[in-house]
Amino acid sequence: MSISIRAIRGFRDIGPDEAYRHRFIEDQARDHFSLYGYREVRLPILEPTELFARGIGEGTDIVEKEMYTFQDRNGTSLTLRPEGTASAMRAYLEGGWSAQGGIAKIFYHGPMFRYERPQKGRYRQFYQIGLEAIGGAGPLVDAEVITLLSRFFNKMGVDDVRILVNSLGCPSCRPVYRQALVDFLEGVEEDLCSNCVRRITVNPLRVLDCKVPSCREAMDGAPGMLSFLCADCREHFSKVQEVLEAAGVVSTVDPGIVRGLDYYSRTAFEAVCDRLGAQSAVAAGGRYDFLAAEMGGDAPGIGFALGVERLAMLMDWESRPSPSLDFFVAAATPASRTPVLRLAERLRAASKAVGIDLEEKSLKAQMRQAGKTGAARVIILGDDEMRSGTLQIRDFTTGNQETVTEKEFFRSFCGEPSPTKGES
Ligand code: HAM
Repeated sequence: MSISIRAIRGFRDIGPDEAYRHRFIEDQARDHFSLYGYREVRLPILEPTELFARGIGEGTDIVEKEMYTFQDRNGTSLTLRPEGTASAMRAYLEGGWSAQGGIAKIFYHGPMFRYERPQKGRYRQFYQIGLEAIGGAGPLVDAEVITLLSRFFNKMGVDDVRILVNSLGCPSCRPVYRQALVDFLEGVEEDLCSNCVRRITVNPLRVLDCKVPSCREAMDGAPGMLSFLCADCREHFSKVQEVLEAAGVVSTVDPGIVRGLDYYSRTAFEAVCDRLGAQSAVAAGGRYDFLAAEMGGDAPGIGFALGVERLAMLMDWESRPSPSLDFFVAAATPASRTPVLRLAERLRAASKAVGIDLEEKSLKAQMRQAGKTGAARVIILGDDEMRSGTLQIRDFTTGNQETVTEKEFFRSFCGEPSPTKGES
């Protein structure tokens, strides 16, 4: 059909089957995260632009060219959230969540918006489930967050996700590394893509994860952050790895994990799967001990966000089909249409999903419709059945059709009590 108004590029409609999958993932995440004491929060989709500009960093791709920013009717600059961590920290500081003591363990889910070039697994509106532990600086928090994530993939039946970890240092050791990296990059400048040449001054660490082959080649022999870590950062990182190992979580140290957001320090990680192709990260996160300072606060934190569309692509849905109707009730004669309505309502009251014909079609057309709904059984009600208090039940999987009394039917399919002595 040719229509004149279409969805915005990179913004997708999520139909019933995919919405079911998202919902399934969200429900499983809610259950799983609560095992570790995380509680759900709901955060605004619109935030002051400054929150992301300061939090994520002016020199990042997200802030430079991917934000949906506009002015509201008051002339205030607002941005559709490109991610959730900056909002979570703002909410933590603004809502005084620290006053509850200990580590604030929260998670959220919902749409995020980035003006990226759309392709498979990369959209302009996409869905994340994010989790943050705010208020704890120690390595055990990092290890628990990564363990939780790794176990979540197992729970979802996705066992080929690899966890890559790195340390990005802290404000005392990172500047030394940054300088060593800049010195190296200046030496290979003519082999870098124009984007990376610009990054030398704006965000040199990002050159490390540039995918352009000539850049990858030029970066062979570049200094790595790990050999520049200060003693505290080194100790933190080795403790994280030690605890992960003790927890049985397999992770690989990858110095190329630099992350595209400025707020990270120390532990950074990505969960990747080769089956995703170019957009291989299904989840990513890290520690952000200095993000709060951008908002006038002081609180360490660590977390991750997982891409719901990407996880849905990795899961086996054949063994988890979206639920269909339990019954379709067909009216064999015009006189049985009202009794069909009553029967359907009685079944729904017993929590059975029931479809009926609302267009007063012939029995044959109703049977075709029943087949399309995926209902497991069709109940046929006609004049004979009404007279004798019976129903015809056709099982779509076996093709068997039988006549049962209404009472028997409700007993066997809706768990209604068996008759007491003397009752028929
Ligand atoms: P991120 O790496 O920007 O981190 O995004 C996390 C995940 O969201 C990615 O690994 C990917 O699965 C998914 N994702 C990102 N962009 C898109 C897109 N355009 N289309 C589809 N999926 C996408 C963050 O957002 C940080 N807030 C994570 C975090 C939480 N760090 C600490 N706490």
